[in-house]
Amino acid sequence: MSEIRIGIVTVSDRASRGEYEDRGGPAIGEYLRDVLSNRWDAVTRVIPDDVLTIQETLANLCDTEKCCLVVTTGGTGPAKRDVTPEATETVCEKMMPGFGELMRKVSLAKVPTAILSRQTAGIRGSSLIVNLPGKPSAIAECLDAVFPAIPYCIDLID
Ligand code: MTE
Repeated sequence: MSEIRIGIVTVSDRASRGEYEDRGGPAIGEYLRDVLSNRWDAVTRVIPDDVLTIQETLANLCDTEKCCLVVTTGGTGPAKRDVTPEATETVCEKMMPGFGELMRKVSLAKVPTAILSRQTAGIRGSSLIVNLPGKPSAIAECLDAVFPAIPYCIDLID
């Protein structure tokens, strides 16, 4: 087992009920495999848009599974059930608003609806949590923008 553990969390009512194939989580895994080759282990979860479940999952991945990075996909929009940013904020000690700002900026150049994502990032203990929108096409677009800062950020909080 490699030392680096990364949490990948798909937040979706329908994917968690098996009504919809999770494409976001695998797209994050594929992106990370490309940029990090095989030097890490994925800890994956597919959970509903429920604030308590999201909080518990994020806390478990950071505190127990010791993931240095946790990437979520989904639940960042304006719909009533979209609560991933709120759950992220409540489990973090420190927010990193620059991640969301930059991801929205680069996404807006591709799709005007990027303004609808409230995606953010924050730090819990020695872990960085980054939210991505639920669209699989958004994953590489957003991670390309912020990935250069991620290893440095993790070094600083370790
Ligand atoms: N960002 C990128 N890069 N590409 C997209 O297609 N979709 C937007 C936005 N951000 C999108 C994007 C849309 S349509 C919505 S509703 C919000 O993300 C929130 O999506 P989520 O609730 O699935 O997280």
